[in-house]
Amino acid sequence: MRVLVLGGDGYLGWPTAMHFSARGDDVAVVDNFAKRQWEMEEGIEPLLPIPPLHKRVRAWQRVSGREIGLYVGDLMNHRFVYKVLREFQPDAVVHYGEQPSAPYSMQNRTTAVDTQINNIVGTLNLLFGMRSHCRDAHLIKLGTMGEYGTPNIDIEEGWLEVEHNGRKDRMLYPKKPGSFYHLSKVHDSHNVEFACRIWGCAATDLNQGVVYGVDTEETKADPDLATSFHYDQVFGTVLNRFLVQAAIGEPLSVYGKGGQTRGFLNIRDTLKCVELAADNPAAAGEFRVLNQFTEQFSVLDLANRVQAVAKAAGHDTTIVNTPNPRVELEEHYYNARHSGLVELGLEPHLLDDDALGKMFATVSANVGSVDRNALAPTILWARDSRACLCPVP
Ligand SMILES: NC(=O)c1ccc[n+]([C@@H]2O[C@H](COP(=O)([O-])OP(=O)(O)OC[C@H]3O[C@@H](n4cnc5c(N)ncnc54)[C@H](O)[C@@H]3O)[C@@H](O)[C@H]2O)c1
Repeated sequence: MRVLVLGGDGYLGWPTAMHFSARGDDVAVVDNFAKRQWEMEEGIEPLLPIPPLHKRVRAWQRVSGREIGLYVGDLMNHRFVYKVLREFQPDAVVHYGEQPSAPYSMQNRTTAVDTQINNIVGTLNLLFGMRSHCRDAHLIKLGTMGEYGTPNIDIEEGWLEVEHNGRKDRMLYPKKPGSFYHLSKVHDSHNVEFACRIWGCAATDLNQGVVYGVDTEETKADPDLATSFHYDQVFGTVLNRFLVQAAIGEPLSVYGKGGQTRGFLNIRDTLKCVELAADNPAAAGEFRVLNQFTEQFSVLDLANRVQAVAKAAGHDTTIVNTPNPRVELEEHYYNARHSGLVELGLEPHLLDDDALGKMFATVSANVGSVDRNALAPTILWARDSRACLCPVP
């Protein structure tokens, strides 16, 4: 298979590219290094420095004997996108190449607009490019479980059977996302569904949960093949933040009541899910949606898990409730279907104490690189930011 990975310099894009290459597929990556620019703007770094993409591509060739093609350019430049598609002629396009942070998008007008333009225009360019230059290729688009929000009903996989005034139809599941970033993904989903319905494109929208872990078979092969670990308030995830807080001896800060429940998955399962989607493509004209997570946890569950693992490693840690910078339900119903990928053959790696302990050991070994200033949440969702200073009941 010829696999084109968009966003190939990213946390998930680089391990995905190596994963397909390792099994013998012809792989090329595309990136404009926007993420590195956003990190510079925010003054933050991943926990460990990540070599430039050119160096990682060379390291992969040295380690595996296999070549990964590299295209440097912006998905918002449609001429660049068309050229890459025309030249590479992919069978599958894995689209990770977007601005991935909710807090980044909620900072101000500029970052909200930049996020939506980057993500929505990039995806539109891709859809038009695929229509003209690789009509039969399968688009595997990374969306997020955050598109659904936390509705008070079961979350289905993308579609909902609706009965209204005695008539029935199958509609896209109604979305209640929680940030301008998540909204960009909702708009993408609608645009991709439209391209499937009108042009006959084949697409899989993977509504992914929060990914954790940095070790895959391929990243472990050489230090130059590593992928990023973010713990900061902009690009970090809650689990990574708790691991870092425990390692540096700070209390684990649970925003609000900590009842916010979300889907999570191991990075190895991300790679497997994308592989399963590529090997079992959507049909022409089909907009297939799969919810890509393996377990759901509340924020407080995660804090308790990290506290226990840190204690076993000799670190006593406390948990504190802090004001929530986000506007979100802190206690809610959450039951999201996620059977599609398991039916395709996914065997989940679960977040057991062993997996968590290994992540904690990696973080503990690098505490000297932690920037404590990067942890505090200064990006507030509320219109009147004073609302965020209310004490938590
Ligand atoms: N990591 C997660 O937990 C998670 C969860 C759900 C969904 N996702 C989605 O998966 C995708 C990958 O996430 P990630 O964590 O690897 O993010 P990432 O930021 O590490 O990687 C995205 C890459 O895309 C590149 N990019 C962005 N805009 C581009 C453009 N216009 N042209 C070319 N390249 C561009 C960036 O430079 C970056 O290298 C994102 O779309 C994200 O929204 C991630």
